[in-house]
Amino acid sequence: MSADLLELRGLSSGYEGSRVLWDIDLAVAGQDILALIGRNGVGKTTLLKTIVGVQAASGGQILLGGQDMTALPSHRRARAGIGYVPQGRHIFPHLSVAENLDAGLSACGTRTRGRRVPDYIFDLFPKLHEVRDRKGGFLSGGEQQQLAIGRALAGAPRLLLLDEPTEGIQPNVVDQIEQALRHAARELSLTIVVVEQYLEFVWRFANRFAAMRDGRIVKEGKTSESKASDVAAFVSI
Ligand SMILES: Nc1ncnc2c1ncn2[C@@H]1O[C@H](COP(=O)(O)OP(=O)(O)OP(=O)(O)O)[C@@H](O)[C@H]1O
Ligand SMILES: [Mg+2]
Repeated sequence: MSADLLELRGLSSGYEGSRVLWDIDLAVAGQDILALIGRNGVGKTTLLKTIVGVQAASGGQILLGGQDMTALPSHRRARAGIGYVPQGRHIFPHLSVAENLDAGLSACGTRTRGRRVPDYIFDLFPKLHEVRDRKGGFLSGGEQQQLAIGRALAGAPRLLLLDEPTEGIQPNVVDQIEQALRHAARELSLTIVVVEQYLEFVWRFANRFAAMRDGRIVKEGKTSESKASDVAAFVSI
């Protein structure tokens, strides 16, 4: 078994006086694909933001490959190998697909300076190659999601964090996203943490899961040992 790539120790976080995350302990082994599940408002997005550094931790530690990231600004964490696909995608609408991908390269600074966007992005998402000169804002939701994932992968992350990649996406594109994530995980030796409410989708390729409730992780396990239907209570009202 590989060593833990990501380790959270007693992590807490919140917004102006209201605490959202409470003493989160979580270890994600290298090349694991972890499904992070839970109802609306339990703190899934806040947890990803805190790992990425968009949101400051109020206590605890975030380790990547044993290195303490907790005090680093988000661009330093990106450079250390953390890629992030935010909820709602947030691509740059006025930049072309190619320019959006370039932005992903430059976000990780010196590690990739002078390099071009790797061809494997277009191998994973051939559609992006077709529309490479189109402005991000003119893409369909599914194309934008592929672009957001491609942009994160352009930085050659070791750890990829995805926040609800299937939200508002048509079923045929969901399949493409699943294939691309499987392929990327294998070919790029990625470790993935994916927030999802669509359990059947994420159970097809995640090997582990962690369920959150009220800002805490309340259950963890292997997806092979718990059916998606058994954990559905953690996501449905
Ligand atoms: N910018 C913010 N300022 C203040 N409170 C916030 C902010 N963002 C989120 N919260 C609150 O923090 C809690 C956790 O929100 P978060 O977005 O992390 O949940 P989530 O599990 O991702 O939910 P969803 O499934 O709806 O995306 C909620 O009570 C939410 O209202
Ligand atoms: Mg969320």
